[in-house]
Amino acid sequence: MTKAIRVYEAGGPEVMKWEDVEVGDPGPGQIRIKQTAVGLNYIDVYFRSGLYPVEFPAIIGQEAAGVVEAVGEGVTEFAPGDRVAYPMVPGAYTEARVMPTLKVVKLPDSISDQTAAAMMLKGMTAQYLLFRTYKVQPGDNILVYAAAGGVGQILCQWAKKLGANVIGCVGSQEKAELAMANGCDHPILYRDEDIASRVKELTDGEGVAVAYDSIGKATFEDSLNSLKPFGTMVTYGNASGKVDPVDLGILAPKGSLYVTRPTLGTHTATRELVLDGTKHLFDAVTSGDVKINIGQTYEMADAASAHADLEARKTTGSTVFTL
Ligand SMILES: NC(=O)c1ccc[n+]([C@@H]2O[C@H](COP(=O)([O-])OP(=O)(O)OC[C@H]3O[C@@H](n4cnc5c(N)ncnc54)[C@H](OP(=O)(O)O)[C@@H]3O)[C@@H](O)[C@H]2O)c1
Repeated sequence: MTKAIRVYEAGGPEVMKWEDVEVGDPGPGQIRIKQTAVGLNYIDVYFRSGLYPVEFPAIIGQEAAGVVEAVGEGVTEFAPGDRVAYPMVPGAYTEARVMPTLKVVKLPDSISDQTAAAMMLKGMTAQYLLFRTYKVQPGDNILVYAAAGGVGQILCQWAKKLGANVIGCVGSQEKAELAMANGCDHPILYRDEDIASRVKELTDGEGVAVAYDSIGKATFEDSLNSLKPFGTMVTYGNASGKVDPVDLGILAPKGSLYVTRPTLGTHTATRELVLDGTKHLFDAVTSGDVKINIGQTYEMADAASAHADLEARKTTGSTVFTL
C-alpha cells in the first residue's frame, strides 16, 4: 500500500495525516512515479492553512523526484526506469503517484534525486524571476527578501553570477552570514533596520532596479520605497500574508514604478516553458554557477514538524522530505 499525507480541512500543521492511499495505473498521457524525495515549499503552507483554496481531502505538495514505474497509452517521452522530477503539480506528498507528463523532465546523472527535489520549484522560480520577469543586468542593484531561504539562496547566487549588486533581507545574523556565503553582498537585518533607508544608503541614494519580494503584506510598502525611478516591484509570495489592496496612483510619485505579481504556474503552463526553464536551471547547477543547499531534511510522515519550522522561520536553504 502507498502512503501519503492527506489534509481534510484547512488548519495548522496538525491537519496533515499520513495514511494509506490508492494509486492505480496511468491512463492515456500519464505516468506513474515511485517518488524518492519530495520538496517542501511555502506554497504548501498556503494550501494547508486555507490561504489558497483547495478541495478537501487533498494531497498537498508540488515538487518531487523519483523513478518512472509505468507509462500510459500514448506516452513516448518516458519509459519505466527513467529518473525524473517535476515542479508545480499538486499532489506531491506521497510515496507514488499517477500524473500527466507536462511538467515532468528527465534528470541528468549530475543531479541527484534529493537535489532535484530541492530545486525544481525554487530554482525554476529563480530562473523566471531573474531572466523573464525582470532581466537582471550587470551592475544592477537588486533587493532579495528571505535571502537565506530556499528561493532566496538560489536568487542571490544566480544574480551575483549575472553581475548584480545583491542586497538581501534576512531575519537573523546567522542568516546574514549564510546569505553572504551565497552571493549576497549586503544583508539587511529587516527585523531591526528600516529597509528603504538602508537600501538608499547602500545605493548612494539611488534605490534598486528590482525588488524580489516574497514576504508580501509586511514589506510591500518598504519594497516600493526601495526602488529607483522606473524600478520593478516583483511581489511573488505571501510569507507574512497577502498584500492589501493597493491604490495604483501611488506608483506615479514614487517614480513611475512597475508592479507585477507572477507565479511559476504561468511559467510552466506549456512544455516549451518547462523545457526552457529546466534546461537553464540544470546548466546552472551542473556548471556550479548555482549550488543547491539542502538546509534540513524530514521524513515525509513528519511533514507537520517541517511545516512548523518553515512557518517559524527556523529553516534555511531548501527542505527535502525523504521517503
Ligand atoms: N510566485 C511564485 O512563482 C513562487 C514560487 C516559489 C516560491 N514563492 C514564494 O517564495 C517565498 C519563499 O519560498 P520558500 O519555499 O523558498 O521559503 P523560504 O524563503 O525558505 O522560507 C520563508 C522565509 O520567509 C521569511 N519570512 C518573513 N516573514 C515571515 C513570516 N511572517 N512568516 C514566515 N516566514 C517569514 C523567513 O526568512 P527570514 O527569517 O530571513 O525573514 C522565512 O525563512 C514564499 O513566499 C513563496 O510563496 C513564489
